[in-house]
Amino acid sequence: MEEFRLQKFLAHSGVASRRAAEEIIASGKVFVNGKRITDPAHKVTARDKVTVDGKTVTVTRTKTYIILNKPLGVLSSASDDRGRTCVTDLVKIENTRLYPVGRLDYDTQGIILLTDDGDFMQRVTHPKYETEKTYEALVKGEPTEEDLGKLRAGVELDDGLTLPAKADVIRFKGPNAVVKIVIREGRNRQVRRMLDAVGFPVLKLKRTSIGGLELGELRTGAWRHMKHRDFEALFGKNEARKLKFG
Ligand code: URA
Repeated sequence: MEEFRLQKFLAHSGVASRRAAEEIIASGKVFVNGKRITDPAHKVTARDKVTVDGKTVTVTRTKTYIILNKPLGVLSSASDDRGRTCVTDLVKIENTRLYPVGRLDYDTQGIILLTDDGDFMQRVTHPKYETEKTYEALVKGEPTEEDLGKLRAGVELDDGLTLPAKADVIRFKGPNAVVKIVIREGRNRQVRRMLDAVGFPVLKLKRTSIGGLELGELRTGAWRHMKHRDFEALFGKNEARKLKFG
């Protein structure tokens, strides 16, 4: 049976980040099989009874799932031969090699997931699942209902017709507008190309959710481990229960 450092065990169980887990352990709140443990490197397995503040903590995951608010000017790759900052430079976890789940342009900010679980990656990115991705795009100009209708019908791009998107103007900003757009594909620069094609070039782009999993209050550049409720938001309660993730 796989052994974890206690600190990793707590982080994987969603109790706290690695750093916070270290503090919780040092503060003496953590017991393993009834014995107070203050060493973050203490080894535990899923069979051990671990409690924090008297509450039992279980770990059902051995893989890592991260939600990151990607800043602008960061590549959504695992490495770059030109030395640019990659999402994996922002999330350093000991003994874990993470990969971004899908892509987000260098000049797009917002939610991106990272994992070391290939099945999870496949489930989120494979086109057959049509995972919804929601973006807020600041566009030049003010789209009318008729313009939005074109996005809702699907737009002819140079790589073919897109699936219908959900599209609404959520606010006007001077001569510009913020369009909330939801797509179910992951083509290269798809949102920019769709909005361009209907006459509204994108000035700024942010991804705010993947499935029902929202960025929430996570500040730019910050990340956290996904919790069970995040898997539920992403896949729905029923599927989250059946899947081995989370
Ligand atoms: N569509 C884009 O145009 N850019 C992204 O980063 C994601 C979707």
